[in-house]
Amino acid sequence: MKSIKDINFAGRKVLLRVDFNVPMNDQKQITDDTRMRESMPTIEKLLRDGAAIIIMAHFGRPKKGGFEPELTLEPVAKHLETMIDRPVRFTQELLGSGKPEQMAKELKGGEVMLLENIRFYPEETKGGENLARQLAALGDCYINDAFGAAHREHSSTAVIAKFFPNDKYFGFLMENEVRNLEKLMQNPPRPFTAIIGGSKVSSKIGILENLLDKVDNMIIIGGMRYTFTKALGGRIGNSICEDDKLDLAKELMRRMDEKGVKYYLPVDSVIGDKFGNDANTQIVPSGEVPDGWESMDCGPESCKAIHDIVMNSKTILWNGPAGVFELETFAKGTKAIAQSVAESCKKGCFAAVGGGDSVAAVKQMHLADQMSYVSTGGGAMLEYLEGKVLPGIKAIQD
Ligand code: 3PG
Repeated sequence: MKSIKDINFAGRKVLLRVDFNVPMNDQKQITDDTRMRESMPTIEKLLRDGAAIIIMAHFGRPKKGGFEPELTLEPVAKHLETMIDRPVRFTQELLGSGKPEQMAKELKGGEVMLLENIRFYPEETKGGENLARQLAALGDCYINDAFGAAHREHSSTAVIAKFFPNDKYFGFLMENEVRNLEKLMQNPPRPFTAIIGGSKVSSKIGILENLLDKVDNMIIIGGMRYTFTKALGGRIGNSICEDDKLDLAKELMRRMDEKGVKYYLPVDSVIGDKFGNDANTQIVPSGEVPDGWESMDCGPESCKAIHDIVMNSKTILWNGPAGVFELETFAKGTKAIAQSVAESCKKGCFAAVGGGDSVAAVKQMHLADQMSYVSTGGGAMLEYLEGKVLPGIKAIQD
């Protein structure tokens, strides 16, 4: 497949789908523009070539089937102007009004336009072909750089590609995500260790099952580990647990044994008597949490054991925090893992980090650039790791 780096887009009108679904505070200020920054190489390349760029993006999950002032992309357009140091043409009017159509028609090489939140069209999330056709009519080729939305079979992320059978490409962000994820899933250097956390087993079943055939070590952390600890007969006090998943946890452990995957559950836990930074805490063996106490992080012995496994790995996938990372009192386990993974990378290990909280942890600790790769996709990365075909990727590769 052709990379955009080998194509000159001079004089072309490029339809570029990005994922600018960035966090904003109440004053509509963007609090983390990583996703926008990660798409800059694509935008800058197109501007260098002299292309006219029509950007399509979504924001939040509009429900009303039309314009919603609180979900407008206007703040994103303003922020983008400061990033590319040129005006970004923007209108809150939707296709059909004639205004965006006119703006797109008049757009010249080197100019950028951002369409209003693409999810204001109810057809978008249904993958409507009419909307895809309307969008396709605005430009003459299609680039998808929206990895974060690649698991959605929407008009602007997948369906639109069919209107450009010979002129559809991955942007650099997308190319990078796909290359790194393929590296992880196809022939990774061994030992390959997965560190999977998060609060619920039920949200990670797909990943755990898909990774069973691929990894050498599986480190299970976060709230989901107590379901495993309880399944093994441990006392977990008030720790989070999915009682209806106890059999599943047993079955997963049986299958890991059968396949020779070494699984590791933290041996000690930091427990608290309430959910808050001011909780009283103790460190206890993981299967001995007293009633009235809740385990909210892994303890120092576990951090040391995880460090050793990580340092002996050649490939690491980390998805999900070790504890209640948002509370400083219970953030030590997650921080220790971030440090271990960064250290392992210095020794040449390939480490991929994905998922909101683990990414937040490495960013907060200023370790993101020490990881081999930090994914911009939450749900998209999760579905890829579950072994699913992502419609946004398939639409370009087909
Ligand atoms: C994300 O933020 O993960 C992506 O932008 C996808 O958003 P969605 O889950 O609303 O489709």
